[in-house]
Amino acid sequence: GNEINPYTYEVLTESARFILDRIDIRPKVAIICGSGLGSLAHGMENIVEFPYGEIPHFPVSTVAGHAGKLVVGHLAGTPIVCMQGRFHFYEGYPLWKCAMPVRVLKLMGVEILIVTNAAGGLNSEYKVGDVMLIKDHINFPGFSGLHPLVGPNDERFGPRFPPMNTAYDKQLRIIGKQVASELGMSDFVREGVYTMLGGPNFETAAELRLLRILGVDAVGMSTVPEVITARHCGMRVFAFSLITNEAITEDDVEEEASHEEVVETGQKRQEDLKRFMTYLVPCIQRE
Ligand code: 6GU
Repeated sequence: GNEINPYTYEVLTESARFILDRIDIRPKVAIICGSGLGSLAHGMENIVEFPYGEIPHFPVSTVAGHAGKLVVGHLAGTPIVCMQGRFHFYEGYPLWKCAMPVRVLKLMGVEILIVTNAAGGLNSEYKVGDVMLIKDHINFPGFSGLHPLVGPNDERFGPRFPPMNTAYDKQLRIIGKQVASELGMSDFVREGVYTMLGGPNFETAAELRLLRILGVDAVGMSTVPEVITARHCGMRVFAFSLITNEAITEDDVEEEASHEEVVETGQKRQEDLKRFMTYLVPCIQRE
């Protein structure tokens, strides 16, 4: 818990250098693929893959459904780097370890980070399969001091006290909504507030009612540490949640949230999300 972040600027430069030495493109856009969204990388061309275990200093992920590799290549002609598999707090990693790859991406020259996740829908208007563009977040772990930026600050990454009110780039959200509209996806693309809880259990009904009162539209177990770290080092962020299940907020119902439901919904929306990303990435790259 009180371990010091060993990923100095120099250490992370070695990770970035390792990757850059083995690719001949310089992606400006990176994508972090959430649970069941790993197939976003399948449409890529001319790929070079880096299993996390082969990148110097990289942590290795443990969850089923998270392949754990960096994929560099083109999506619809646009150079991108894709993280297939991420590091979660509930796996036992400190938050600075969960967010470590973001700084490696920054040192590779990435300027825009697209973050995706699977989340439970709290907004009563949301349906399973909806895509929620994230417009803001509530950092619950941060309320108790669990934060990826705790510890000495290296100004080469960013400021000691970074602002977070502009975390989810307004212009990128406008583009996201335009793309959704052009693809006829507006009926299931929403915009809302995400929150991260540590997990690994899905929430109780009382916890979910609390979150709803607080203005949360979707709840998950990731994304916030990566977004904070990306904003700290000046990257622009676009993020969305796939609503994989409806939060069960009533007492005494037999239904339960399950990882199987999360993965299943991801698979059902896989083609739509791939189409969305394929149109979105070139538009965002032009920004
Ligand atoms: Cl209901 N809660 C959390 N914390 N994460 C989720 C979820 C719920 N559904 C998918 N991911």
